[in-house]
Amino acid sequence: MDVISNPLTIFSQLDYLRREGKRIGIVPTMGALHEGHLSLVRHAKQACDISVATIFVNPSQFGPNEDYQRYPRTLESDLQALDSVGCDFVFTPTMEAIYPSGYSTYVEPPRVAERWEGAYRPGHFRGVATIVLKLFMLVPAQVAYFGRKDYQQVAVISAMVRDLGVPIRIEACETIRDPDGLAMSSRNRYLSESERVRALSLSHALHRAQMMLDAGHRSPSELEQGMRDVLLSAPVDSIDYAVVVDPETLDPIESIQRDAVALIAARVGTTRLIDNRTLVRRT
Ligand code: PAJ
Repeated sequence: MDVISNPLTIFSQLDYLRREGKRIGIVPTMGALHEGHLSLVRHAKQACDISVATIFVNPSQFGPNEDYQRYPRTLESDLQALDSVGCDFVFTPTMEAIYPSGYSTYVEPPRVAERWEGAYRPGHFRGVATIVLKLFMLVPAQVAYFGRKDYQQVAVISAMVRDLGVPIRIEACETIRDPDGLAMSSRNRYLSESERVRALSLSHALHRAQMMLDAGHRSPSELEQGMRDVLLSAPVDSIDYAVVVDPETLDPIESIQRDAVALIAARVGTTRLIDNRTLVRRT
């Protein structure tokens, strides 16, 4: 496994391989890797000749009161984990390489970025869209792998790539969970034992939404109330949103006629968690 922090070096090595006909898959991450991240690398390995993970904790996607400073940085164990799954290249750019002094260019994110995470984390998707586009420029991959765990992020990046004509395919991969259902997240390591138990209510609430849909409830607001009941009985410490929306536009819907997606963001202790589930209409 080659670990490269120089942008010119990674570009020229991968550009050479691409000209030789190799198919390159990129997995952008902020490190603090867990099985969710590694599953993306496995997808890349399966479908591509060359897998490239990137590790960069991107300051522009964190708000002023968010956890940029305390975000876990575990480079040594990240590199071990990537090596163990057979990742070919790791790009670990420096801050200066990504945001050289005087940096002032940002991507205006698409409409799907406006609600939910976009509303609760102003500027977040501007930072995400900017870094992801920059990584796509530096790593000439044909395919990029993202986790559905960050459902709106996938929608934002897909819309950006479509709108700007970026020549890369976006693959959305399933959310990897602990055996008890908690969606894996780098932020789970902030949770105490008792907070972790309360955090399970996010996946339980999503399960409740599907159960209610299966039982014939078609009204998003009924399902939303059902999810809130589960979250508040845990209890979580606050709920940013718990909604059932259109799976593509993420806009609110009147009634569940086709599939929908349930999105939750809630705080347990000081840790903000998100999770989601595609609700399948079976009846
Ligand atoms: P990060 O939170 O490190 O996540 C990197 C990738 O791993 C994202 O595509 C995310 O959706 C995916 N992922 C996280 N937890 C997952 C899980 N439990 N199952 C499956 N996939 C999971 O998302 C980011 O970093 C950043 O915003 C980034 C795209 C790297 C831009 O800075």
